[in-house]
Amino acid sequence: MEKFRSDLQVNQEKATLVAAVQRGAVFNDDLAELTALAESAGALVVDRFQQKIRTIHPATYIGRGKAEQLAERVQQFESNVVIFDNDLSPAQIRELEKIIKVKVLDRSELILDIFASRAQTHQAKLQVDLAQLEYTYPRLTRMWSHLDTVAGGGGTAAGSVGAIGVRGTGEKQLEIDRRLVQKRITELKRELEQIDRRKMREIEGRRGIFTVGLVGYTNAGKSTLLNTLTDSDVYVEDQLFATLDTRTRKWIPENGVEILLSDTVGFVRRLPHQLVASFKATLEEAVNADLLLHVVDLANPEALDQIESVDKVLDEIGCGDKPTVMVLNKADAVYALSQVEIIQTLYPEAVTCSARNRVGLDELATAVLSRYRGSEVHLRVQSHHADGRIRSFLQAYGRILQEDYDDTLFSIEAVLGQRQLPGLKRLHPVHLEILAG
Ligand code: GTP
Repeated sequence: MEKFRSDLQVNQEKATLVAAVQRGAVFNDDLAELTALAESAGALVVDRFQQKIRTIHPATYIGRGKAEQLAERVQQFESNVVIFDNDLSPAQIRELEKIIKVKVLDRSELILDIFASRAQTHQAKLQVDLAQLEYTYPRLTRMWSHLDTVAGGGGTAAGSVGAIGVRGTGEKQLEIDRRLVQKRITELKRELEQIDRRKMREIEGRRGIFTVGLVGYTNAGKSTLLNTLTDSDVYVEDQLFATLDTRTRKWIPENGVEILLSDTVGFVRRLPHQLVASFKATLEEAVNADLLLHVVDLANPEALDQIESVDKVLDEIGCGDKPTVMVLNKADAVYALSQVEIIQTLYPEAVTCSARNRVGLDELATAVLSRYRGSEVHLRVQSHHADGRIRSFLQAYGRILQEDYDDTLFSIEAVLGQRQLPGLKRLHPVHLEILAG
């Protein structure tokens, strides 16, 4: 796939990573994550440069002196791209590029770039396009060309914006460019709204079936867990953001119980908000799930921070209060037992497992089933003999406990999920009585 901005392409490039914090603040080892992000984009990290700065310098963020030091290190390590953990303005990027003489990217651009290269489906591509354009729009200083030719083309808008290094040729051109981008943003939003509506209808159609959304920091093992639990073959890759599209699969944790399990996009600390906004449809699965499984990579030394980051994104998309089971995955690869103890103490109801080795999955099924059952009702329903729909419905969605007949009516005692009750009522039973729940 052609990439959005070839100046972001860091494949096989040697990268120097930079993080600057103001004095008094602490480095929270973001560079470990930035390293993972850069490697995920295909770069080889050759140097890391952490700097404390007294204040943010408007022209260069880190100050001219530090930028010159950075330029020397870049030469010394022969790197050809510098990636900042901080968000930079376009003017700062330009100024830094002048001093350092190699490409400069910031963290949001890097994440957007990774998303662009991972997007597989039409929907994911549109979502990434929108996020990129919204990120770029206020920063637009370059000449954009052929933007309108890709509308509806299915490829990324990315592919159309190739004029790297061609600077804007004045206000008028910039104004035209802005209008083109705005037009494309409107088109993308419209198309995504349609997809969103379709998705909502799809979700609506599943009403009554217990749905579980897998959420978690990128690379925590969500797809692996989905595969293992449902015996399917979803793409699993040891790279960040392997999953950009949601996948929903049927999971039968116990005879007669059918649950829908949905994978979602991986979260990351400080996910550019344009991405959160445009991946709304993908995250809709999580928003509409009855239960979330928050998958944690227990083997990652940053696990606690990652849990916090995921919680923040969940809050942002309105899922902060959703019932959640914490799943502490990769127990087979744990090396810091103290961290495991801390996390298990903080989350006493969490299930510890290894999706890869199929360990702990029965405990996970039990935890999910107890949430599922928690929302069941015990009922008695009566229907006419000729109407077999109620019995079929209860067979499909509940558990039939007892059946009785008389001359005209058919009486069933059953257990059914609270959520399926409206579906049952729509079949107009002669009589419906809730016995418990
Ligand atoms: P994103 O799509 O980036 O959000 O990732 P994900 O959370 O879906 O993770 P995925 O299932 O793709 O797994 C990431 C990596 O972790 C892969 O290399 C998996 O094989 C590995 N992995 C998953 N579960 C386990 C586990 O239980 N133990 C170990 N050691 N590795 C695991």
